[in-house]
Amino acid sequence: MIITCRTCGKVFHVTDDELRLNGAGKIACPACGTLHETGSRDRPVERTSAGSGPAPISGTALKKRILRTVDELPPMPEVARKARRLLADERSSFGDLARVIETDQAIAARVLKIANSSYYGFTNRISSIQHAAAMLGMKTLNELLTFACTGSLLEGELTGYAMRSGDLWKHSLAVAACARSIAKEKKPALADDAFAAGLLHDCGKLILDSYIAERRDLFTAFLAEPETSFLEAEKELLGFDHAEIAAEICRKWQIPSPLTLAIKAHHKPTLVGENDLVFIVHAADAIALMSGIGSGIDGMKYEIDPVVMENLRITGNDIGLHMAEALEFVEETVDNL
Ligand SMILES: [Fe+2]
Ligand SMILES: [Fe+2]
Repeated sequence: MIITCRTCGKVFHVTDDELRLNGAGKIACPACGTLHETGSRDRPVERTSAGSGPAPISGTALKKRILRTVDELPPMPEVARKARRLLADERSSFGDLARVIETDQAIAARVLKIANSSYYGFTNRISSIQHAAAMLGMKTLNELLTFACTGSLLEGELTGYAMRSGDLWKHSLAVAACARSIAKEKKPALADDAFAAGLLHDCGKLILDSYIAERRDLFTAFLAEPETSFLEAEKELLGFDHAEIAAEICRKWQIPSPLTLAIKAHHKPTLVGENDLVFIVHAADAIALMSGIGSGIDGMKYEIDPVVMENLRITGNDIGLHMAEALEFVEETVDNL
């Protein structure tokens, strides 16, 4: 429960346990000591950060509003859906994939820009998608396509998460590169899925950002409690955390279910049992956050789960190598977009 003190205006959070212990009694404001009734008849009213005007909606109404915002997101470009179908068909060739990409000029132009970035290291300029397909192969071309389709969505500023324009994009690139690097070493067959899941893992932040910005003081008050995380604040104050909302977005975009699961569980990797893709994306996110690339307000609050460290057999030395790979990928590709 969030309380705004009627005397000094301080916004503070009272846990359910404190309310239970307190019964229908009084809670003192931690700043000025004013007592606030917590019983059902005289419950303090939630207010906006300015202490005036209507309180932001909460509970079921808020959850419905957030899910409606997911529905209003633009669909994934048609070219991405067609490419996914081709990749699932063993009879298709990289020429088929190139022809599909060429049907969307804006996406094709972005794919070419990335293919010509210094990261891929071609000395001669790649001039067409067909040329890129021949040089890179089908899997890398698909990786570039995912990259091109998600970039414009993830580039904006997220004020609720204190992320400047480009921060979420850089963080997502770092996680994608790091996840691919871990997968190549530990589970090579998962490298493509790890890259794609890494790119999309935090897309739920696109939806939750404005709701957090509207409730800045409530988040500040919640996080002032010891041992609270930003993820818990999302869940408590909005009804969803950003990983759950990312999974809703994945359903809307018809992202394959193994990727959706890895995205949904990226902060709670052990809840779904032992799952290599989930573990890889979780570890990559934590390593990318340690590197500080594009981290926002919640950046320093997450750590690698020890079960994941053990399961993937990740050492301190590995972390350094994967981090270096992520840094190189972000530095050498981001300026080309
Ligand atoms: Fe996240
Ligand atoms: Fe993340």
